[in-house]
Amino acid sequence: MDLFEHQAKELFAEYGIPVPRGVVAHTVDEARAAAEELTGRVVVKAQVKTGGRGKAGGVKLASDAPDAEQKATEILGMDIKGHTVHKVLVEEASAIAEEYYFSFLLDRANRTFLAICSAAGGMDIEEVAHTAPDKVAKVPVSPLTGVDREHAREIAKAGGLPEAALDGAADLIEKLWAVFVDEDATLVEVNPMILTADGEVKALDGKVTLDDNAGFRQAEHEGYADKAAEDPLEARAKEKDLNYVKLDGSVGIIGNGAGLVMSTLDVVAYAGEQFGGQKPANFLDIGGGASAEVMANGLEIVLSDPSVKSVFVNVFGGITACDAVANGIVSAFKLLDERGETVTHPLVVRLDGNNATLGRQILSDAALSGVELVDTMDDAAKRAAELAAVGA
Ligand SMILES: Nc1ncnc2c1ncn2[C@@H]1O[C@H](COP(=O)(O)OP(=O)(O)O)[C@@H](O)[C@H]1O
Ligand SMILES: [Mg+2]
Repeated sequence: MDLFEHQAKELFAEYGIPVPRGVVAHTVDEARAAAEELTGRVVVKAQVKTGGRGKAGGVKLASDAPDAEQKATEILGMDIKGHTVHKVLVEEASAIAEEYYFSFLLDRANRTFLAICSAAGGMDIEEVAHTAPDKVAKVPVSPLTGVDREHAREIAKAGGLPEAALDGAADLIEKLWAVFVDEDATLVEVNPMILTADGEVKALDGKVTLDDNAGFRQAEHEGYADKAAEDPLEARAKEKDLNYVKLDGSVGIIGNGAGLVMSTLDVVAYAGEQFGGQKPANFLDIGGGASAEVMANGLEIVLSDPSVKSVFVNVFGGITACDAVANGIVSAFKLLDERGETVTHPLVVRLDGNNATLGRQILSDAALSGVELVDTMDDAAKRAAELAAVGA
């Protein structure tokens, strides 16, 4: 889960990391009030979970409260790379002498943590890394020894930070490491980390990615969830413990195993080209034990997406055999009927693997309306796309 800048900064502040004073505002009036409270020059910053807000016009300096109100009018409601701005952070303007880049991240390829530091911060770090790689220090960090003050200072030095910024940067980096470890983050990025006119080092921007797998031991992270931005179907699927991602096509997809579902998406997109560009409507992995209830919940979620015109159920029987899945589908239809959610769209089912013959038999005996059995994945994908085109 990614945090908003204001959430990242609130977290930083808990760890004693210097950040500018700021107030979150959801309306123009709140922005003006925030600027009055902060007094003096402020910066109005769009709160969206994407970078490059400055370049997109989502970060604006305001000279006083009426100006902040004006800037908030311009920024609230703005679209930045597909993200609508629903709130702004009104922050005291810092006197910037220099802008640096710093981050801790999980380097999966090298199976280690990495500190990245550069005196050339503020702008696109990827660009700097590309054109002047020697200006970007990449220092591996062992999870066993971590980062103490001395190590932090070495990292800052490797990044080419000037002597005047080293102590402040080391303090900030050591504390960022504590954030990274204690909060189970996979990324903590500060761009820019600034040196102010009076010699202070501060975090002027903050990006934090928390590892959702650690959610069980980070109960308070739940408070960061952005319910407003979540797709309502995805939210409902999450409540039911389903691995569901909404996509923008017309063929609903249900499969067992993430790998199989991924390749089903590809096969359907490919087959769909013949039928006016039909595409997968979602990713849904019902996992190993495809019980009737899981199947019913999955079907219910997929069918409540208004853009779904047909559904492709692609199952490869393994530990959970195809007959169990077939029984799951039959009971799911009954369950949905009882819930008043009768299945109204055609369902193409492909069963293969363990007990496939028995599974198919169960489904043909049940003679569920709208259900078609197709033997191969390619043919089934084609049929589902065709049905979606007809239903559209
Ligand atoms: N509180 C602030 N005071 C002064 N300048 C700021 C402040 N916050 C941001 N800026 C300026 O705006 C630039 C972009 O802001 P930043 O928070 O990094 O957004 P993004 O990375 O999304 O563009 C910064 O590099 C900095 O120059
Ligand atoms: Mg930034």
